[in-house]
Amino acid sequence: MVDISSTKGELRLPLFNFPKNSVALVTGAGSGIGFATATLLSQVGVITYGLTKIADDKPEISHGLIRWLVADVSDRDQVDSAISRVREEHESLDFLVSNAAVVRHAPVGDVLISDLKYMLDTNLIGYFNLMGSALPLLKKSKAASVVAVSSIHAQTTSRMVSGYAATKGALVSAVKASALDLGADGIRVNVVLPGSVDTPMLRASANLRFPENPDAQIDEWGRSHPLGRILEPEEVAHAIIFLGSPMASGITGATLIVDGGLSAKLAL
Ligand SMILES: NC(=O)c1ccc[n+]([C@@H]2O[C@H](COP(=O)([O-])OP(=O)(O)OC[C@H]3O[C@@H](n4cnc5c(N)ncnc54)[C@H](O)[C@@H]3O)[C@@H](O)[C@H]2O)c1
Repeated sequence: MVDISSTKGELRLPLFNFPKNSVALVTGAGSGIGFATATLLSQVGVITYGLTKIADDKPEISHGLIRWLVADVSDRDQVDSAISRVREEHESLDFLVSNAAVVRHAPVGDVLISDLKYMLDTNLIGYFNLMGSALPLLKKSKAASVVAVSSIHAQTTSRMVSGYAATKGALVSAVKASALDLGADGIRVNVVLPGSVDTPMLRASANLRFPENPDAQIDEWGRSHPLGRILEPEEVAHAIIFLGSPMASGITGATLIVDGGLSAKLAL
């Protein structure tokens, strides 16, 4: 439904069309894509909870009205505590963004199982912890949706990230199956696959793997994208929020690639 009310005679489209008093929760909200998503959601009037792993993860400057929660998504008890605070303050949860993740780099023969478990616990088990804990609240919403943030590495990948890519591929499968489980409840579940995005995770990877000149490496990654640059966190946040919003009411079980054209390109 388009809001054609106007203050100066011009057509005004409400951003993303979230109903009044919609409630959202974004994990990994202290930085990067999660912070951009939580900030934009709060700016379009959604009551937004931002979940961070430790209290100090909260950014000093926040341009929205984000309500902060602290929990390690790999720990079900901590997730339950965070969700119970949302339940105390609201009757339902309308939009869940499962975004928190970690990455460890190594060639496949050198992957430490402890690193693999760490990535699985955060990137995959974290999603199931959130779903298990938040589902009763999501079911109370009139139009709930979930967006998980995977990676283009789920589909087309590179060296040194076999463990991370595995967690992200599994997450895409989990989302598709979840959409089938929850369709009858009217809950949509979708997944976004970002390419290279200018966040602390990407910069840490560049610093670790190319310590002699990480900025040059990031520029090179950018040039390899058809758009000629890496993406800004807000560009991914827009896709996440679109999928979670009533504008995407017919979309569930879908994967949305936001990669500046990277995966469309043959390396010829
Ligand atoms: N930056 C990229 O190029 C890129 C590309 C593809 C996918 N992604 C994905 O985008 C999402 C956001 O990453 P980002 O790039 O903004 O990086 P980021 O490191 O800035 O954000 C990840 C956030 O998750 C939090 N986190 C990590 N473990 C946690 C845990 N156990 N519990 C709660 N919070 C935890 C971190 O503290 C951090 O704030 C991730 O799922 C990542 O895999 C990023």
